Amino acid sequence: MIIEALQNDDDARGCAAMMCATDPWLILGRGFDACLAAVTDRSCETYVARDGDAVRGFIVIQMRGAFGNGYIRSVCVAADARGSGVGSALVAFVEERILRECKNVFLCVSSFNPRARALYERLGYEKAGELKDYVIGGASEIIMRKTTGPLITSHVYQPYPARPDEG
Ligand SMILES: CC(C)(COP(=O)(O)OP(=O)(O)OC[C@H]1O[C@@H](n2cnc3c(N)ncnc32)[C@H](O)[C@@H]1OP(=O)(O)O)[C@@H](O)C(=O)NCCC(=O)NCCS
Repeated sequence: MIIEALQNDDDARGCAAMMCATDPWLILGRGFDACLAAVTDRSCETYVARDGDAVRGFIVIQMRGAFGNGYIRSVCVAADARGSGVGSALVAFVEERILRECKNVFLCVSSFNPRARALYERLGYEKAGELKDYVIGGASEIIMRKTTGPLITSHVYQPYPARPDEG
């Protein structure tokens, strides 16, 4: 299996078909056109995991956005290829790319997707926040972060010493 940048329209359509046929995007109401727009968004980078001619999965990242950091926007593996390490390999691939430029990798996982959340926790991601009723009512998007350290390493917060008159 190799991982490489999305190259052509056929693969983009294959990724979109894979995405719109599965949760969480079924529950979130993302149809084929919205999924195609997500995998071909020019502000993002899409990488596919390929086994010969067959695309087994893909991942979409955005290098600039909230907090100016690398964000994993979508990751999806073909239903018949899940559970054999393709998703973990895609995440590892983009982490290497993102962490060359950023200290953090962010992603969101839906509150109704505990298996994906468990995978991210195993890969070193921690909950950083929760967006309630963000995409659809009644569900949350859990913000997760993997970090290699603070943005600025030359300073550490030190409370000022108390002045004498402050006791
Ligand atoms: C989540 C996903 C990308 C992981 O890829 P993968 O190749 O199956 O993952 P790996 O083989 O590297 O790791 C297996 C782990 O993935 C998770 N996983 C497996 N199948 C899953 C599924 N259908 N949905 C969500 N997570 C799943 C589990 O944590 C699993 O570990 P377990 O077998 O101990 O429960 C893939 O399962 C998928 O495409 N799921 C549907 C779409 C989705 O949920 N994407 C994530 C959106 S945030």
